[in-house]
Amino acid sequence: MENFVFHNPTKLIFGRGQIRHLRGALEPYGKRLLLVYGGGSIKRTGLYDEVMAILREAGCEVFELPGVEPNPRLTTVHRGVEICRREQIEFILAVGGGSVIDCAKAIAVGARYDGDVWEVITGKARATGALPFGTVLTLAATGSEMNSGSVITNWETREKLGWDAAPHTYPAFSILDPVYTFTVPRDHTVYGVVDMMSHALEQYFHTAANAPLIDRWIEELLRTVMEAAPKAVADPEDYAARETLMFCGTMALNDVLSMGTDGGDWATHAIEHAISAVYDIPHGGGLAIVHPNWMKYCLDADPARFARLAVRVFDVEPAGRTDREVGLEGIERLRQFWSSIGAPSRLADYGIGDDQIERMAALATEGGTIGQFRKLTQEDVAAILRMSL
Ligand code: NZQ
Ligand code: ZN
Repeated sequence: MENFVFHNPTKLIFGRGQIRHLRGALEPYGKRLLLVYGGGSIKRTGLYDEVMAILREAGCEVFELPGVEPNPRLTTVHRGVEICRREQIEFILAVGGGSVIDCAKAIAVGARYDGDVWEVITGKARATGALPFGTVLTLAATGSEMNSGSVITNWETREKLGWDAAPHTYPAFSILDPVYTFTVPRDHTVYGVVDMMSHALEQYFHTAANAPLIDRWIEELLRTVMEAAPKAVADPEDYAARETLMFCGTMALNDVLSMGTDGGDWATHAIEHAISAVYDIPHGGGLAIVHPNWMKYCLDADPARFARLAVRVFDVEPAGRTDREVGLEGIERLRQFWSSIGAPSRLADYGIGDDQIERMAALATEGGTIGQFRKLTQEDVAAILRMSL
C-alpha cells in the first residue's frame, strides 16, 4: 500500500424517514439559506413541500435556485453565486442528484472567491473558502453526497471539468433516504448503476502492489450492485434494492475504495466527460459505452488483473485458459450485464457518429496523457472512441 491520510468529514444520515434530522443538522448554521434543486422532480414527488415545511419550522429565510441541469452549467453556478452575494446567504441546501450537488459545491466555493469561480474549477486559482452546505440525495449514482468532487460544464467552451477543492467541497451532512429514489425513472436508475460500478472499476485498476482489502471490497461492491440492480429496475419501489444501491453508490466514491492506492485510473471518466461536453449525453450512458472498450484496449497492460476481476466478479471459469482469454470474457460479461438492464452500448445509440472523434479525443487529453494503469495519448483515446461507435 501507499502511505495515506483518510479524512472524510461528511456526516452521513442514512435510511427511511431520516429527513427528521434535517432541522437538527441545520442548527449550527445561519438562517439565510439557498435551496438548490433541479428541473422539478422534487416538486412532483412532494419532497420540495416536505423540505420547505422543515425549513419554515426551523425559522430559515429561504432563497431558491431551481432548474439546475443534468450536467450542470457554469451559467447556473454564476446565478447561484450572485444570489449568495446579494442575499448574504449563510448555508446552501442541495436537494437532488449529483448534478444539483455538484452545482451547489461550485456555488459554495464561488460565493467565497473574489473573482470568477471558473478560475478555481480550471485549476488556475485556489479556492479561498466556501459556504457550508448540506445535501438531500434523490438519486443513487455519483457519490457526490460524500465526496469533495464536482463536475461543471462550460457550454461556451464545451469543457466539462471535474474539479475538487477539498476540504471546502465536502458536504457538512447528507441525508440519504432510499424512498426518495423510488421515483427515479428506469433510464436514470440504470445510468446510476453504471456510474457507481464504473467508479469501482476505475479504482480497481490502481497500481499499488499490496492492497488486498481494497481489491476485495471493490469486487464485493460490484457483485452487490449487480445483485440489487435488476431488482430495482424490475420494481422501482423495492426498498431493499434501492437501499443497497444508495449505500453502494456512496461507498463507491467517498475515498474509502482508494485508501492506500494511487486512486485508480479514471481515463474512462475523462473520455466520458469529453463526450458529454460535446453531446450533452447522460454521464452513466457514456460510461456504459466506453468502459468495456477501455478495458479491451488496456487488457494487455496486465492480463492477470483482468482475469482476477473476471473470476471474482463475473464467475468466469479460468481452468485451462490464458489470463487474456479469461479477462476478455469478464469484459464481455460486464457488457452483457449492462445491456441486460437496458444501458446503451454504442455511441450510435445516441446518434453520435465519427465526425467529432478527434475533437473529443483532444478535449479528453487537454492536460496531457490520461489514466494511470495505462497512460493514454490523444491517439489512444481516439482509438477507444472509434471502438465505441
Ligand atoms: O432535475 P430533476 O428534475 O431533479 O430530475 C433529475 C434529472 O433529470 C432526475 N431525478 C433525480 N432524482 C430523481 C429524479 N427524477 C425522479 N425522481 C427522483 N428522485 O434524474 C435526472 C438526472 O439527475 P442528475 O443529478 O443529472 O444525475 P446524476 O446523479 O447521475 O448526476 C450526474 C452528474 O454528476 C457528475 C456527472 O458528470 C453529471 O454531470 N458526476 C459527479 C461526480 C462527483 N461529484 O463525484 C462523479 C461522477 O463520476 C460524475 O462525473
Ligand atoms: Zn461517474
